[in-house]
Amino acid sequence: MIAFTSSLVFLLFNFVTITCYIVEPGPLVVATKGEVWPKPQEQTTEDKFYIVRPQIFKFKVLSESCDILTNALDRYINIIVNQILPKTRVKLQEDVLKPWKTNKNFVGYLDALDIILLEPCKHGELPDASMTEQYVLNITSDTVNVLSAQSVWGILRGLETFSQLLYPTADEALHINCTSIFDYPRYQHRGVLVDTSRHYIPVSKLLKTLDALSYNKLNVFHWHITDDQSFPYISKTYPELSQQGAYLPTYVYTQQDVAQIINYAAARGIRVIAEFDTPGHTRSWGQAFPELLSPCYRNNVSTGQYGPMDPTKNFTYEFMENLLTEIVDVFPDNFLHLGADEVEFECWQSNPEITAFMQTHNISSYVELESYYIQKIIDMSDKLKATSIVWEEVFTNGVQLPNRTIVHVWKGGWELTMNAVTNSGFQTLLSSCWYLDHLSGGGDWTKYYDCEPTKFKGSDEQKKLVIGGEACMWAEVVNEYNIESRMWPRASAAAEKLWSVKDADTSSQAGHRLEEHTCRMNKRGIGAQPPNGSGFCEL
Ligand SMILES: *[C@@H]1O[C@H](CO)[C@@H](O)[C@H](O)[C@H]1NC(C)=O
Ligand SMILES: *[C@@H]1O[C@H](CO)[C@@H](O)[C@H](O)[C@H]1NC(C)=O
Ligand SMILES: *[C@@H]1O[C@H](CO)[C@@H](O)[C@H](O)[C@H]1NC(C)=O
Ligand SMILES: *[C@@H]1O[C@H](CO)[C@@H](O)[C@H](O)[C@H]1NC(C)=O
Ligand SMILES: *[C@@H]1O[C@H](CO)[C@@H](O)[C@H](O)[C@H]1NC(C)=O
Ligand SMILES: *[C@@H]1O[C@H](CO)[C@@H](O)[C@H](O)[C@H]1NC(C)=O
Ligand SMILES: *[C@@H]1O[C@H](CO)[C@@H](O)[C@H](O)[C@H]1NC(C)=O
Repeated sequence: MIAFTSSLVFLLFNFVTITCYIVEPGPLVVATKGEVWPKPQEQTTEDKFYIVRPQIFKFKVLSESCDILTNALDRYINIIVNQILPKTRVKLQEDVLKPWKTNKNFVGYLDALDIILLEPCKHGELPDASMTEQYVLNITSDTVNVLSAQSVWGILRGLETFSQLLYPTADEALHINCTSIFDYPRYQHRGVLVDTSRHYIPVSKLLKTLDALSYNKLNVFHWHITDDQSFPYISKTYPELSQQGAYLPTYVYTQQDVAQIINYAAARGIRVIAEFDTPGHTRSWGQAFPELLSPCYRNNVSTGQYGPMDPTKNFTYEFMENLLTEIVDVFPDNFLHLGADEVEFECWQSNPEITAFMQTHNISSYVELESYYIQKIIDMSDKLKATSIVWEEVFTNGVQLPNRTIVHVWKGGWELTMNAVTNSGFQTLLSSCWYLDHLSGGGDWTKYYDCEPTKFKGSDEQKKLVIGGEACMWAEVVNEYNIESRMWPRASAAAEKLWSVKDADTSSQAGHRLEEHTCRMNKRGIGAQPPNGSGFCEL
């Protein structure tokens, strides 16, 4: 009996170790070669291929050009040149230097790509909510090789695709299969939120983030620029805000920094949408302007602590009007994010002056008081001709919202919220399933990939009110040293869900493309982490 038990234990133990320890050599997920992320809407690919020699290759613009286009062509020539393999490695295999010459699928050398822009672009043009990003890219063995688009933004997306189709074959040469692509985004608004208040993120890292956005065809940089912890934006109207509210005098964004970020983004077809979150999340504003905030009380005695903005004071509204007037001028995008999430009522409740104000104004609840504030701020934004975005609480608390307001859904149970928001006729953005600060083990990009923004109860009309979504990089435990690896390639999963057709791919298939895409980002200097597991990049 004892012998029997021990042999059973031995067998079980062996079984467990065998299933755990059998591992094949090589990468867990094998990378594709020359496949595109996010997946194009329509693509046919052949086995026939061209060889591109980066030293010779040129873009030929057959239409009017502008600085956005010429700068983009320079950037992509650089990217293409950097894609060739390091000489040292290939020198070892001189005999296989031009293996394509005898391949039956070899069509020839692709020395130029024609660029046709149908609508001329203008110097200094900015992308906006109505930008067109559609393009056609034909690499064929019988006709001309051409990238064509209505707008310069479409050309930018097409250039990104073209650069992704190339893959190294041998020293100084790249391979591109014949392919025909017709591509456009599923959603107009495809963003990433970056929080620069919980940790200050230097401008150089924000510019790199914008590079990464363009490699993923994302088109909105949502700049959550201030919060409770710090106020790094140097306001022209109220410079005291950052003088006293920034972590350090150097941890700030000057007007030149902001302009640089907006221009750098625009050159890549990316909109910059600023968020100045109020009336909660404003503790840092009170360093310079304590009178903006509500003093908290205990037993009718002030505790010296502060809560959300004081919605009962005229000063608050005069201040906000002046600041927002500056903001819509500094940030030219039509959209303005007004925040308004997580307003805590305890401090308002404790404050006798606020209680008295509510009585004289016949305001019977704190939600109503919040509405009173938000209504005034949205009216200001409306008067300044901005389209307001607010976090979902504003809607769920029942604030009366102007028709054009966009409701940004971020909490759990988003399916019910999206249904309610769209049922009331409002446009909506989804972020709930794309919180990049929520970490899980292994390659946790699949949880983002498996989120389908229309998977909620509602009519087709309701689904049309979903204008897109944003992956959110909250920065409590993120600074300049880990922002790249935490965002990428995890935000790439959201990028594909927002660009590609519904059910474009399964996460297990997409994994192979993401493996290649991650190496591609690494090669371009983005410190993306491995998406899935063991493997390597040819760098
Ligand atoms: C490209 O063509 C080669 C053969 O030349 C083929 O093996 C490969 O699968 C093709 N790639 C794609 C993405 O179709
Ligand atoms: C690209 O190829 C498709 C399919 O072969 C064709 O219908 C289309 O006219 C081509 N477009 C351009 C701009 O060459
Ligand atoms: C605070 O003062 C108000 C008005 O004077 C009074 O009604 C209330 O009971 C006081 N609350 C406490 C906790 O002392
Ligand atoms: C605040 O503004 C309102 C309306 O504009 C005005 O009636 C009121 O007198 C002002 N209060 C103060 C203290 O200035
Ligand atoms: C106060 O508001 C309630 C409903 O919110 C309303 O029934 C009542 O008439 C209002 N009173 C005054 C004096 O406006
Ligand atoms: C917004 O206003 C337009 C025109 O006045 C109207 O057709 C539409 O139903 C309104 N939408 C909402 C959500 O109220
Ligand atoms: C790696 O990717 C494959 C599919 O590409 C997936 O099935 C597997 O669960 C992933 N592994 C981890 C650790 O995420």
